[in-house]
This record gives sequence, structure tokens and C-alpha cells, in this order.
Amino acid sequence: MGRYLITAALPYANGPIHIGHIAGAYLPADIYYRYRKMKGDDVIFICGTDEHGVPITIRAMQENTTPEKVIEKYHKIIKESFDKLGIIFDNFSGTHRDIHFKLSQEFFLNVLKNGYTVVKEQEQFYCENDKMFLPDRYIYGKCPKCGYENAKGDQCEKCGTTLDPTDLIDPKCAICNSTPVIKKTKHWYFVLSKFEKQLKEYLESKKDWKPNVRDFALSWIKEGLKDRPISRDLNWGIPLPIEEAEGKVLYVWFEAPIGYISSTIEWAQKIGQPDKWKEYWLNPETKLIHFIGKDNIPFHAIIWPATLMAQHGDWILPYNIPANEFMNLEGEKISTSRNWAIWVDEIVEKFPPDAIRYYLCLVMPETKDSNFYWKEFQEKVNEELANSFGNLVSRVLKFLNSKNNGVVPTPNENSFENIDLQVLKNIEEIVESIGNSLEKFEFREAIKYLREIAFLGNKYIDDVKIWKLTPGTTEFNNKLYVSVQVIFSMALAMYPFMPFSSVKILKMLGYDEDFIKQVRWDDIPKIKVKIGSKISPDIEPLFTKIPDEVIEKEIENLKRIGQKEKISIDSVEEAIDIDYFKKVDLRVALVKEAEKLPKSKKLLKLIVDIGSTTKQIIAGIGEHYKPEDIVGKYIIIVNNLKPATLMGETSYGMLLAAKDENGRLILLTVDGEITPGSKVS
Ligand code: 2FM
Ligand code: ZN
Repeated sequence: MGRYLITAALPYANGPIHIGHIAGAYLPADIYYRYRKMKGDDVIFICGTDEHGVPITIRAMQENTTPEKVIEKYHKIIKESFDKLGIIFDNFSGTHRDIHFKLSQEFFLNVLKNGYTVVKEQEQFYCENDKMFLPDRYIYGKCPKCGYENAKGDQCEKCGTTLDPTDLIDPKCAICNSTPVIKKTKHWYFVLSKFEKQLKEYLESKKDWKPNVRDFALSWIKEGLKDRPISRDLNWGIPLPIEEAEGKVLYVWFEAPIGYISSTIEWAQKIGQPDKWKEYWLNPETKLIHFIGKDNIPFHAIIWPATLMAQHGDWILPYNIPANEFMNLEGEKISTSRNWAIWVDEIVEKFPPDAIRYYLCLVMPETKDSNFYWKEFQEKVNEELANSFGNLVSRVLKFLNSKNNGVVPTPNENSFENIDLQVLKNIEEIVESIGNSLEKFEFREAIKYLREIAFLGNKYIDDVKIWKLTPGTTEFNNKLYVSVQVIFSMALAMYPFMPFSSVKILKMLGYDEDFIKQVRWDDIPKIKVKIGSKISPDIEPLFTKIPDEVIEKEIENLKRIGQKEKISIDSVEEAIDIDYFKKVDLRVALVKEAEKLPKSKKLLKLIVDIGSTTKQIIAGIGEHYKPEDIVGKYIIIVNNLKPATLMGETSYGMLLAAKDENGRLILLTVDGEITPGSKVS
């Protein structure tokens, strides 16, 4: 038995959460937590809302209210979303509570006392009207690069250039539109470089971390760790507990992770064992696991461990950080400001939580960005949940009711046939595989194994043709018993992934709500379904199919959002349809031969290999490339151009190259060797 402290990133209380958040952090955390509990480990699951930072004050301005009201509202909405999806924490706190203020200030004072800060003076915009220093995003003005009038102090949304507020032409305060002044201000910096060696050793020892997390963190260290300001001139946040820093608050990313600890302390107090949190946070045996999305990696893998090290206390460090990549929506990046998102508080009102959990787990962005497609969601629910899982359960239970009076028959194990023993053995192996995958944080693989149980169960029933057997015979009893045992084991193994459906099956089999809580994962194949007992006469379908109209409505909805967006793209530059672009057949070609065309300075004659054949291309690159330099290169060509004749030679394609303002030309090539003729998309 091990001791685990599982956390999921504290969501900002500045808006509702979307499916990308769920697939990125909360669902894997919840599955893992439920699994660890079933393994019999001592485990707690801790979270809360992240209630400070600029976005919350901006949201308050937008909604014409106070930050307090904003965090209260979204804390509630977010908590309800989690509840409805069955993501249940041992404690769900918030960072605007006293307990968190006190602890964060203590953490800051230790960093200060132990000599890990420097104070630096800098110049910053100040609004004399609002009497406050303006964070970068509180300033707007003209972009020096593209002339866009409404560029923000940190970035121009139009041309994408990252900016410093002082780069803006005619800067304005975003709150009152007056012109701010430049004023000197001091900030406290965390001297991260002092932990370089310690962090490097720590990260290098984490050989089993996901490569993306470990490599990313190590590359930060390689670049050299810079001092990070941990104070802000804001009036929303946790005040720095020192006189010289009046009016300043702790940077939100300094204090937010401390929320994992304050939430644990709150939990310990709530359960009436106020010191119990120490058994987790101060015990080197505890495995601290942070579930996060990839944008949070540097904060959890570098800054947070350094903050803990800087305390000179007994704090444990993260044991693992199984960060996920991002989930896109219908091929496009989720964007909350554009409303290109599926909001959890909305989707849970339309579809069952387990259907959402199932699909999000299947397409979890574990090793690379993934996509939520409405059509695929429908297909998985209809084909797999309804047709496979649901069908299996209702076939068996209905048969049990109609042919055996709802009573689970007593088998005669001595006369089990191979096919019976085999299906039970397969299930045992699959349950073991699910566990192995979960131990490695491979959730996609795990749920695919689970899916196999349902496939296998259906196949068993088809193979033994249960409906043809005569009730009362040993064969009938055995086959029916095995079928019930299959759905029983399936229900138990489903619990981490689809807890609602798991309990639903168990209840139909006559078990009470809490039965699952005593089940140990390793026992699943061994626990036998109760025989002789009567099952419920009301068999409800486990999942219902999603009709086309329902999904089409969702797609229509998104299209409308996309359409609005398209209008704004159109006005910026001429946009083309994806299908239009797809008509261009781009291929990788390997240059086999090259020579200058006589009498032409510009033209080269190339023979390129495109896998199925070779082609002649006449390219205007003679002033930039010598024939011998281009032979052997993998270039990109347009393969479906109408042939054209240039200086008496026919060209059957066109190559791609980039040209800069000074007329310098560079060929497009591929990042490594690939079969000539490969499609470029
Ligand atoms: O990215 C986010 O949503 C942050 N609010 C996550 C904070 S995680 C932790 F450090 F508090
Ligand atoms: Zn102002």
C-alpha cells in the first residue's frame, strides 16, 4: 500500500471550464484517483479554484462587479461541473481564503529570510486617475509594427508581435482611457538560479516522467534560470507581508501552487484531524502527483519545486507530473475569448457524464494534441457505448429475467467448457492490462482494454448461442452464469472510467450503491457474482444512442461561431476554404539530377523522384542554387500543375521556396528523410 497525494491544476475562477481542461487534467486525475483507491492505497485528491491574478479583475470589470463576486460565482459553477462529471475531490478549496493567505505569506517570508530574493527597481505605467500601476494587459495603444489601434501591452492581437507596454504608440489606460505616466516601482524577484544544480539533479532523477515534461523542464535549466518577479502592483491578491512592499501582492503563480497545501490543510481541519495534512506533505514516502496541462509545466516542474526547496523545510517535491498536451475542437485550437469551446456546464446538461468521460478518455491528448469531433463523439457513444457495452448488459439481464426468473443460476464449474474458461481468463488478463496502463498514466490504452471486455462478452454470447439452450440444463446454467459474471467484472473494472454506469449495472444486479467502495482492483477477476439472488426486474438501457439531429445541432452551433470568426478573418486578408487548399497536391520530391539551362541565368532543369515516377521540373532558382548543391535534397513540389514550357523545356511541376525582403531565396525542404512522393498536408 502506498500513500498518494493527487492534485489537479487549480482552475482560474474567471470563467467556466471547458472539455479541454477536463481531458487535460481533471479526468485523468479522477480516473487515477479512483484506481488508486481500488488498489487499496492511502490517497487523497486535492483541488480548488485559483482566485487571484489579472484575468479575474478583468472579468470583474467586464461583468461590472467585484472580484469577490466573480470568484464566488465561478467557484460554484466550476464545482458543479466537476460534480456532474463525477470528478469528486476530497477537498475543493479556493485561494482567496484566510488559510491560504497565511500560508502563502509564510512561504514568501521564508524565501526572503533564506536569501533567495533580490529587489529590483523598474519603470512601469501608472494611471493617476485610477491610482494604480497598470499590468501589461491593462494598457492598449497603437502597435508599432502593424499600426493596429487596439494592441494590448503584452501583445498585438492583429499581427501577433509580443510587446512591452512602452513599445505602444500613444498608450492608454484600459480602465479609464486616460494617458498613463511612467513611474518607478520596486519588485521582489525570486533568484531561481540558486536552485539550478538542485533542480537539475532532481529532474534528471525522474527517468520515468513523460519525456515532454522532463525534457521541457531540463531545457529551461539549460538556457539558464532567470530571476522571476514574484510581486505585482495590484490591489487584488495576497499582500506581501512586509512594510516596504505596501500596495503589492504576490504574483499569482507564486502562490497558486501553495493552494495545493492550503487545500489539504483545510481538508484535515474539516475531517477533524487538523494535523493529518502533515502525513502527506511532510512525509518523504508520499507520492505527490500533479495532473496539469502542458502550459503549466514550467510552473510545476521548475518554479514550484524551487519554491518548496527554498523553504528549507521537510516539504516533499512532486513525484510525477503527467502533463497532457492540448485538446482542440474540430481541428481548431480551443479559444475561450472566441467561444470556440465546449463548456462543461452546458455539455453535462445534454449528454450523460459517462458518455463524455468515455470519449474524452479515448481521445485524451496524452502524447500529442488531439481533437474533439462531435461526429466522432456520436459514433463512439452509439457504436461502442450503446451497441457494445449497453447491448451486452441488456442482453444478459433481459435473458436472465425472461428465461431464469431473474435469478443468477448456480454453475457447475466442473463441467465448464474451454470457451467458458477462456472468456473468464481473458477478462482476468484484460483487467491486469488496464491496471498496468493506468500505472503508466496511459489512459487511452487503458480504456481500449476496457472496451475489449465488452467486445469479448458479446462475442461469447454469440458463440455459445445462449438463446438456443434449454433452461434448467447444466449447459444453460453455466453459460448464463458466465455471461452474468462477465458483465459483473466489467462493471467493476469500469468504475474508474465510468463510475455512474458501473454503479448502475451493479444496482441492476442487486448490489447496493456502496458495494463498489469495498472492491479491490486486484480481486476483480476473483470476486464472484452473487448466485441465487434475484436481479432487478426493471432493466434500463445503459446508454441511449444520440440521434443525428442532436449532433447536427451542436455542429451548426459551432459553425455559427466559426462563421462570425470567418468574417473577421476575411476582412484582414483573403481567406480560402480548406477544400480549396486541399486541391493542391503537394509532395516531397528527391532531387536526382540538376543542370543549368543553356542561355538562361535563372533556370535550372531538375529531375526529381516522386516515388511512383520521376519528373522534370524547370525552376527559376539558378541565381540562388548551384546544380550540385541541390542534388540529393528533399524538396516540396506542387505535383498537379498543368505542364508549362520554358525556354523550350517542359516543366511538370513547381517547387516551393521562400524569399525574403532582400530577395534571398531558400528552398522548402523536409525535416529529415522521408519516402519521395509522400503527401504534404
Ligand atoms: O492554468 C491555470 O488554469 C492555472 N490557474 C493553474 C494553476 S495550477 C496551480 F499551480 F495552482
Ligand atoms: Zn485609468
